[in-house]
Amino acid sequence: KPQNRVFSGVQPTGNLHLGNYLGAIRNFVGLQQTHECIYCVVDMHAITVWQDPKELAANTREVAAAYIAAGIDPSTNIIFNQSKVAAHAELAWILNCVARIGWLNRMTQFKDKAGKDREKASVGLYAYPILMAADILVYRATHVPVGDDQKQHLELARDTAQKFNNDFGAQDFFPLPEPLIMGPATRVMSLRDGTKKMSKSDPSDLSRITMRDSADDIAKKIRKAQTDPDPLPETVEGLQGRPGAENLVGIYAALAGMTKAEVLAQYGGQQFSAFKPALADLAVEKLSPITDEMARLMADPAYIDGILSKGADRARAIADPVVARVKEIVGF
Ligand code: ADP
Ligand code: NA
Repeated sequence: KPQNRVFSGVQPTGNLHLGNYLGAIRNFVGLQQTHECIYCVVDMHAITVWQDPKELAANTREVAAAYIAAGIDPSTNIIFNQSKVAAHAELAWILNCVARIGWLNRMTQFKDKAGKDREKASVGLYAYPILMAADILVYRATHVPVGDDQKQHLELARDTAQKFNNDFGAQDFFPLPEPLIMGPATRVMSLRDGTKKMSKSDPSDLSRITMRDSADDIAKKIRKAQTDPDPLPETVEGLQGRPGAENLVGIYAALAGMTKAEVLAQYGGQQFSAFKPALADLAVEKLSPITDEMARLMADPAYIDGILSKGADRARAIADPVVARVKEIVGF
């Protein structure tokens, strides 16, 4: 049984952005020193909302390239895409029969993503958290790095694991996965509206810095980021009620490895006209090497596909015996 196994994933839905990097991918990189890491491109999650089949494969390679370019070593960690390992879907069905409808009805992300006409959302979007539970439990992962937005889903995965263990008298079969709460920028906000999170699906390109943006794009988006006319405050308390300012200071802090207080000790009292160029320079310095490496990797799709295919083989070697045992436990 693993002691220190991490599972996490990113959806191949295009427009990978700074929030995905700071809130997820960058943290995945650090964990490879201390944990056995399984990083998935969750293409089965992606299709819970419509994906253009012509773009899905390219978007899958983009996430894999981002993982590798950010510094995840595919020879020591497992990088693969979900649809290639059937065990995820098999376990998800069994867990669908363990988890309760009432649990899903409490998921706030479904309410956000389904929008007003909930009846028109796919069944998959509704059941998404159960597939996520299967993703984690099929490796008997012990730790899951999660952003703010995924905490509720991880809680549901724990509840599902516990109910399975209890229902079938299989004490401790599934470990209850622990969240690894990540550093300062667990939530990067939109550059156009500091009260909404930066997201792949925002219709405004100016709302997000993507992992493919050029230095000029990055500088332009930061220059145009919504802020107020006041200078930066001297203290963190002074950021209250100033979401645009708080977001930019938070991004600076996360990129520089500083606290917000340290950033304000340096820039407090200065105008955004001075701070924004400094932030743009920092963002370019940190992101450009990754963007360049991603482009280099994406130019060789066969190389990425080879990594994904080897990763899927290694993933199956762990997941298939777990599903076989689950089937016995269930009585199949
Ligand atoms: P998205 O939410 O952008 O569609 P995913 O659901 O694939 O992307 O999320 C991938 C990872 O990126 C998750 O761990 C999620 O918590 C993280 N993430 C997504 N958006 C943000 C954000 N704005 N700030 C911080 N982390 C984020
Ligand atoms: Na998300």
